Amino acid sequence: MLIEPAAPPTASPPAAPYVPPFPPRPDKGLPLLQMLKLARENWLAIWAKSSFERDVYGSRLLMRDVVVCNSPDSVHYVFVERHENFQRKSPQHRHALIPLLGDGLFVSDGPLWRERRRVVAPVTHVSRLAELAPAITEAAAERRDQWRALPPGPVDVLAEMGHLTAEIICRTIFGRALGRDAAGEVVAAFAEYQAHIGQTDLLSLFGLPDWFPRFRGRQVRDSARRIHKVVDGLIADILDGRQQGEASLIRAMSEAKVPGTDRPMDRRAFRNEAIVLFMAGHETTANTLAWALFMLSQDSTSAERLAAEVRGVLGERVATLADLPNLPFTRAVVEETLRLYPPVPLLSREALGPDRIGDRPVRKGTLILVSPWLLHRKPGLWDQPDAFIPDRFLPGAPKPPRHGYIPFSTGPRICTGQHLGLAEATICLAALAGHFRLALEPGTQVMPVARLTLRPGDTLPMRLTPR
Ligand code: HEM
Repeated sequence: MLIEPAAPPTASPPAAPYVPPFPPRPDKGLPLLQMLKLARENWLAIWAKSSFERDVYGSRLLMRDVVVCNSPDSVHYVFVERHENFQRKSPQHRHALIPLLGDGLFVSDGPLWRERRRVVAPVTHVSRLAELAPAITEAAAERRDQWRALPPGPVDVLAEMGHLTAEIICRTIFGRALGRDAAGEVVAAFAEYQAHIGQTDLLSLFGLPDWFPRFRGRQVRDSARRIHKVVDGLIADILDGRQQGEASLIRAMSEAKVPGTDRPMDRRAFRNEAIVLFMAGHETTANTLAWALFMLSQDSTSAERLAAEVRGVLGERVATLADLPNLPFTRAVVEETLRLYPPVPLLSREALGPDRIGDRPVRKGTLILVSPWLLHRKPGLWDQPDAFIPDRFLPGAPKPPRHGYIPFSTGPRICTGQHLGLAEATICLAALAGHFRLALEPGTQVMPVARLTLRPGDTLPMRLTPR
């Protein structure tokens, strides 16, 4: 699909809202082989129109039962009410991430997950934001200044947002000084890892048991080792006292005790959780920002509204945490972006025991899929589901359906960094969209593609003009 910059707003009648791109939806389900082929390229493209409309449905895919939960009630049932039975991540997720994250909270379950969650959740809790937010404001201000100094010509905004959020998460995890120096190295090691793991582990989808040996490339192991080495070095610098006094997530975790004991976590656990935080908090926020900047480039009315809000409230300043309540439209753009392009478009679980979702019996081992991509565009839950309408998230607008809007998941496994992620995206969007006009490089094709996260393709070339 070819996207041209949007025409300037006309006076009247009110323009129809902007509808950003999404893959064509087949009228009916695709044959299995065609579906698997398409799924490997971009699984967002496999869903027929009816997949968005239906509540709970399923099929047997080769050797595995698959159930899609696509209604607020069924999401509440699997993620909240029956969390214990549906807490385990799917084999695909675990096989892709265990070489990197080890026993990190993101891929663990049961007592170990509970133990880690009780250490990690408090350090990323909303109450810690005041301590962590200055690193966000500082990095956003630096990026704005760098953009002002750029020579004319297109800039890859997707890569830019990747670097910015990596800077921020590194400074939050390792402290401002150390994080600043380490970001480049950590990002390079991560990019290498991502390049080596496939989008999906089809062997697991086909129902092979967990113990079955899988081909795991040496490159995957080597790139995981490289990340471990970088992160181990950073943790040693903090814990052995070479970096003192800086607020960081590592320091906060080192001061916390393993629940029920008076000892802190061991160093391998620190490393695994630091990598979880980097992985979970980096590309998610980068994609949110890239999508928001893209949609604003196509919807000049919203872009002008956002810029007017930012300039009115902040002038030349970059937002701090205290400014956020005064930036409701900027925040609404972030929330609407998370609805249309949820960075984690698929949440997948394995049923630990037999169950029943609505009137559908579920066998042990069934793969449960909850897709914010489907749910956030479900007709009936949303007015004009495919349109970009930030106003639906303004204070005073009707609240989005509970368990129908889940960019951060829901229930006991909800994202621990949701407040940090929202604050970060809002501060950065204000700093950039408030001070620059962005225009998509003509001829660029933009289409959402699901990798581990939902991205606007591989690059997003745009031209920036200071306001
Ligand atoms: C816009 C930004 C973000 C989005 C959309 C997002 C979304 C999510 C989602 C959907 C999950 C659940 C995944 C699943 O159940 O399969 C998750 C988990 C998690 N997120 Fe985020 N996240 C964001 C930012 C962050 C940040 C900034 C941090 C930390 C600094 C973070 C830390 C975590 C952790 C630790 C988990 C695992 C929780 C658990 O399994 O108990 N996230 N995130």
